[in-house]
Amino acid sequence: MTVVTPEGTPSMSFTADKLLLFGATGDLSQRMLLPSLCALHADALVPEKLNIIGTARSELDDDGFRNFAADALNKFLPDYRKSAIPGFLQRLTYQALDANQTAQFADLAAKVGPRQDGLAIFLSTAPSLFEPTIAGLQASGLADETSRIGLEKPLGTDLDTSRHINDAVASAFPEDRIFRIDHYLGKETVQNLMALRFANILFEPIWNAHYIEHVQITVAETVGLEGRVGFYDGAGALRDMVQNHMLQLLALVAMEPPSRFDPAAIRGEKTKVLRSLRTVAAGDTVTGQYRAGAIDGASVPGYADELGKPSATETFVAIKAHIDNWRWKGVPFYLRTGKRLPKRTTEIVVQFRPVPHSMFAQRGAIAQPNRLVIGIQPEENITFTTNAKVPGLDRGGLRLREVPLDISMEDAFAGPTKRIAYERLLLDLIEGDQTLFVRRDEVEAQWAWIDGVRKVWTDNGITPNPYGAGSWGPTAAIALAAKDGVAWHE
Ligand code: BG6
Repeated sequence: MTVVTPEGTPSMSFTADKLLLFGATGDLSQRMLLPSLCALHADALVPEKLNIIGTARSELDDDGFRNFAADALNKFLPDYRKSAIPGFLQRLTYQALDANQTAQFADLAAKVGPRQDGLAIFLSTAPSLFEPTIAGLQASGLADETSRIGLEKPLGTDLDTSRHINDAVASAFPEDRIFRIDHYLGKETVQNLMALRFANILFEPIWNAHYIEHVQITVAETVGLEGRVGFYDGAGALRDMVQNHMLQLLALVAMEPPSRFDPAAIRGEKTKVLRSLRTVAAGDTVTGQYRAGAIDGASVPGYADELGKPSATETFVAIKAHIDNWRWKGVPFYLRTGKRLPKRTTEIVVQFRPVPHSMFAQRGAIAQPNRLVIGIQPEENITFTTNAKVPGLDRGGLRLREVPLDISMEDAFAGPTKRIAYERLLLDLIEGDQTLFVRRDEVEAQWAWIDGVRKVWTDNGITPNPYGAGSWGPTAAIALAAKDGVAWHE
């Protein structure tokens, strides 16, 4: 069925009965895609007739792939889900494919077979296979109007290469059938950001430069290179984490209230923010690379040791960003992300301004500016610090103390199953809802800004500062915030 969206672009609305997974034997497939699909199967959330066709270079037959999937599921699924494995395996078939051989796509199309409702394709392959894969899909008829495609990163290394990929995909699929994945958008708390901002009257009136002093976004990881030598060393933290996940978080924090909960409205508002990002100044960015150190008491090697050679790739980035629009005039957004930091945490801190006049000062008490901390992972919680009077008769002077108003999602929603990001995204891909996928103009605005950061690094000879594994990054990152009188929230 063709639905005309309010923007006037036709959108194919169908629930796919075939799912074609490229990169089916890869790491993402084992850790995330197969477990997510099995969980959706267990809860009867995917169509009963959904058939999942895996493809990759490995020479496997259907049974070989089912064995491979069973191993992955036994390893990565929680125990309570494991009884669903045998039933799920029945949905799987497999076709080996060398994506560089266009002729082999005919066999793949034959394996996919007739589609009653439609085909969802999930592409998670090496960047070099992107274009041949698109060409093969087109040549074999797998890219017709009854199919849509989900694209996993990396989608380019800069604006030019990203445009090139987008053009290649656009030659086979219209934008309303392209689903660019940023798995952070599938995380429950990331979406909860929208509920916090737009389902409550409290925050929106003060969500601007008049009341907010600065925003911090931290995505800290304890892991290092994790064997991703080929990919990570060519990418670095800026392209691996900031270009996508962190800019999406920033856009969700900073966007204007969308008028509708639909892909056009939400993605439109995010794009406006991304296009308003100011080119970063040389003094507003710091990079780092971890050296040997210790995490959780265990010693870990430095990045170059893990890599086996010296490298100029950054494993840490801190940036002071500005959004040049009315709402955010003069409000810095401090971003930082890094590998081998002391703990795994993703959080957004909204630091409010002090009250304009505090009568408590007269009594020697200090009213601390309010702070909202939105914890995204590992714990999902929202903390709003308020000032409260310390109980007592105050003969020695009145005292105020910061008291948190805490919402722990875990406690508030103990019942519902906790779902991993890919469960939602795969289901949205199968059902054709683009709300949580990144639009072309959005991703290009992200790359344009990132290219600007990299140019500043090159033009100013900015190279990674060393930091010990298990620390919060190079001291220059602390200084980046401290020179504005800001301390990173830890
Ligand atoms: C990926 C990056 O996109 O996100 C990885 O390529 C990173 O380097 C990962 O580790 C982090 O995702 P999450 O969901 O664990 O925060």
